[in-house]
Amino acid sequence: MELEVETLKEKMEIRGRTKKASMEFLEGTLNQTEVVVVQSGIGKVNAALCAQILADLFHVSHIINTGVAGSLKKEIDIGDIVVSTDALYHDVDVRVFGYPLGEVPQVGCLAFPADEHLAQIALSCCKEVNPEISVYQGRIVSGDQFISDKQVKDNIINNFQGLCVEMEGASIAHASYLNQIPFVIIRAISDKADDSAEMDYPTFEKAAAAHSAALVEHMLPLV
Ligand code: ADE
Repeated sequence: MELEVETLKEKMEIRGRTKKASMEFLEGTLNQTEVVVVQSGIGKVNAALCAQILADLFHVSHIINTGVAGSLKKEIDIGDIVVSTDALYHDVDVRVFGYPLGEVPQVGCLAFPADEHLAQIALSCCKEVNPEISVYQGRIVSGDQFISDKQVKDNIINNFQGLCVEMEGASIAHASYLNQIPFVIIRAISDKADDSAEMDYPTFEKAAAAHSAALVEHMLPLV
């Protein structure tokens, strides 16, 4: 989210700005840790391009992706945080050639596993800095679709057993996997991925951006 980047930017000592693929990459330090902060934009292609640029141009050692997601579990509510164990695509279907639903041919895995250490520190830092929020760990599913229909949501739940759905995580995971970069996806729940009542998005966004910025800031020295 733009507000997440803005919040991190304010805490950074910025050394350089690079424009590439219409994205602005901010290089510098955040509490003495070298970081590159960037807003990827929405969807799988934007996110994959962004991750590849982080690998090629900035040689990043780790990738932490934050953003929002729709909940796929009754108990995971708006404002809660989900940390990935793994991530996969819900909109890939090459079953006709024998691949399981969701698997990209010739890559060698269905779900891209998050780095266990990054996931562990994300969980513990979240409990420490955002004690009022419930944090969950599990699978994140991604696709180029905003899910707002109960039937579509139920199909995704039945097919993939994810905790939340969004539009970038699995492609960042995929790019990280191909480049052998440890990654974790961290998502604040913004909606229930169905047609349930709308909430006050600006208020949610402000709180979610503050929570994820605080979380990332506290994770960095432990990476
Ligand atoms: N990001 C936030 N909520 C989402 C949803 N319901 N579907 C896809 N991406 C999302």
